[in-house]
Amino acid sequence: MKPSFPLLPERASAIAGEVDALFLFITLVTVVFTVGILAALVFFAIKYRRRSDADRPEEIHGSLALELTWTLIPLGIVMVMFVWGAKVYFHMNRPPDDAMTVSVVGKRWMWKLQHPTGQREINELHVPKGRAVKLVITSEDVIHSFFVPAFRIKKDAVPGRYNVTWFRATKTGTYHLFCAEYCGTEHSKMIGKVVVLEPEEYQTWLAGGPPAESPVVAGEKLFTELNCITCHRADSAGRGPVLQGLFGRTVKLASGDTVVADEAYVRESIVIPAAKVVAGYQPVMPTFQGQVTEEQLMALVAYIQSLQVPSETRAEPERR
Ligand code: CUA
Repeated sequence: MKPSFPLLPERASAIAGEVDALFLFITLVTVVFTVGILAALVFFAIKYRRRSDADRPEEIHGSLALELTWTLIPLGIVMVMFVWGAKVYFHMNRPPDDAMTVSVVGKRWMWKLQHPTGQREINELHVPKGRAVKLVITSEDVIHSFFVPAFRIKKDAVPGRYNVTWFRATKTGTYHLFCAEYCGTEHSKMIGKVVVLEPEEYQTWLAGGPPAESPVVAGEKLFTELNCITCHRADSAGRGPVLQGLFGRTVKLASGDTVVADEAYVRESIVIPAAKVVAGYQPVMPTFQGQVTEEQLMALVAYIQSLQVPSETRAEPERR
């Protein structure tokens, strides 16, 4: 068994080791400098203490070499922290393409989660070991924060926004889930657990629950019920843009800007259609703010994400 630093929680995700190594490095640098500066302080206080009333210190006119040394060495060290930190940050924020998407909605005071196959959970998340899990996180009231210490992930759940993070669990077991942003009276009770299962056990778990409707199917039904389908037709004869093959592509806007059609863009276009109007279209779409819940919005986004154009006509989607 590898020795573990007992002050840290268990490491149960692929990124945990990277986070801990960086954290250890920063801690070591901090300790070395704190001890060094303190030692120098004590040493100089004794060495240059006032010895008599007539004591006059020697005048010193500065030293370029010294100035450069104490500027460049710390600069080098903090640049190491910056580059290393940025690398880990990007790793944490870019889910792999094959990740399964779990939607997370924070609400005072519970976590509502939904699997890509439709199963819903509250304050509990079952995931397979070894599989990348992408979390699309939002809130339906105030700011919460989704925190799983054993996975070293923490991401705010912000109303009106989709925040994304991901993890790959490396060990089966049960791990704490916390809300890490004060959100009112029962903030401290907004806790839960993440259960990591072997892939076969996860399949059994999925099959064991009541039959579920996947977000894509639920989204398709909503798309029809809300009459989205009358304007967003597949044959480009509608009043709204064609949605087939949209997801992940770069879209030209009437303002001349471009935007990548990701979860956040699709969500905004449903809630505030006038915010980013596609070039060549009129801002005629009504808002659906207040008419659909966060979970329904996520279902609509999942449905639009699932819409692909037939392969022969399909343009290569641009990478994000
Ligand atoms: Cu939700 Cu604190």
